[in-house]
Amino acid sequence: MPKLKAKLPLLGHLMPHFALFVILFPGVCLARQLINQDCGSTFCGNLNISFPFRFKNQPPQCGLYDFELVCENNNRTTFVAREGKFFVQLIFYENYTIQVVDTSLDTDDCNSLPLSSLYYIGIYTIMYVVNCTEPINSSLYIGACRCTTKSNTSSSLPTSHFYFLDAKTRPSDFNQACTIEAKVPIKVKNITGMSTLDIYKKLLEGFWVE
Ligand SMILES: *[C@@H]1O[C@H](CO)[C@@H](O)[C@H](O)[C@H]1NC(C)=O
Ligand SMILES: *[C@@H]1O[C@H](CO)[C@@H](O)[C@H](O)[C@H]1NC(C)=O
Ligand SMILES: *[C@@H]1O[C@H](CO)[C@@H](O)[C@H](O)[C@H]1NC(C)=O
Ligand SMILES: *[C@@H]1O[C@H](CO)[C@@H](O)[C@H](O)[C@H]1NC(C)=O
Ligand SMILES: *[C@@H]1O[C@H](CO)[C@@H](O)[C@H](O)[C@H]1NC(C)=O
Ligand SMILES: *[C@@H]1O[C@H](CO)[C@@H](O)[C@H](O)[C@H]1NC(C)=O
Ligand SMILES: *[C@@H]1O[C@H](CO)[C@@H](O)[C@H](O)[C@H]1NC(C)=O
Repeated sequence: MPKLKAKLPLLGHLMPHFALFVILFPGVCLARQLINQDCGSTFCGNLNISFPFRFKNQPPQCGLYDFELVCENNNRTTFVAREGKFFVQLIFYENYTIQVVDTSLDTDDCNSLPLSSLYYIGIYTIMYVVNCTEPINSSLYIGACRCTTKSNTSSSLPTSHFYFLDAKTRPSDFNQACTIEAKVPIKVKNITGMSTLDIYKKLLEGFWVE
């Protein structure tokens, strides 16, 4: 079996904090009114950002730190988590849901891979990104590199071959030369028969997290 790097789920720890705050301190709002304030709304690009989110450059009492965002180039709302960095595409305040996309997907660098393991809503299936020490010749292993030209042997990762692998792959089909680098949510039943570009296209649609 390949080794699985332990990675904590994104946002799984965020909502409980917010909920706890509301449950534990319902009667102390007056005493706490100087922190976690609603400082109104701010635009980053075309996204209207308001409470409980805050921007890194806002006064410290605004919003909640667990919901801190960065507005890059006054243009793109980004969310940085332990698991990786994400562009925020949409926010629905009514159900605390945001649509995000791994920033490594939205780049001109064809060598960048989606390596953020995310906490996800149940409508997604999981796909593994595996790192193999040798090339794998199997239809189950879908090449994860989008580059159209073969990289030089002098490339920075001479012995790494990255593939997408369906999470329902039987253990006997796991190649010993491969290690799971990330578990990535994707909105398809399974990735069997998909091409590399199909998979990237699907991933770029982003996904919802609560
Ligand atoms: C931005 O969102 C806030 C809070 O939801 C709302 O009051 C405000 O009208 C919105 N601004 C625009 C321009 O849509
Ligand atoms: C903002 O983003 C859009 C689309 O991503 C881009 O075309 C535009 O140049 C950006 N503007 C700035 C100031 O970065
Ligand atoms: C959240 O609300 C939006 C708008 O009402 C809806 O489109 C979206 O599906 C909801 N997400 C979840 C997870 O319920
Ligand atoms: C892939 O595995 C190699 C060793 O086999 C390692 O040096 C490299 O850092 C790994 N790449 C990533 C992105 O984890
Ligand atoms: C890959 O495997 C197929 C059969 O499974 C074989 O026909 C083909 O020659 C192999 N390709 C390489 C590069 O080994
Ligand atoms: C690949 O090798 C060629 C010739 O050695 C070199 O000109 C080119 O810059 C290299 N490309 C990359 C991406 O390293
Ligand atoms: C994969 O999904 C396709 C439909 O997208 C389905 O026909 C096929 O049976 C699925 N394969 C497995 C192994 O679940």
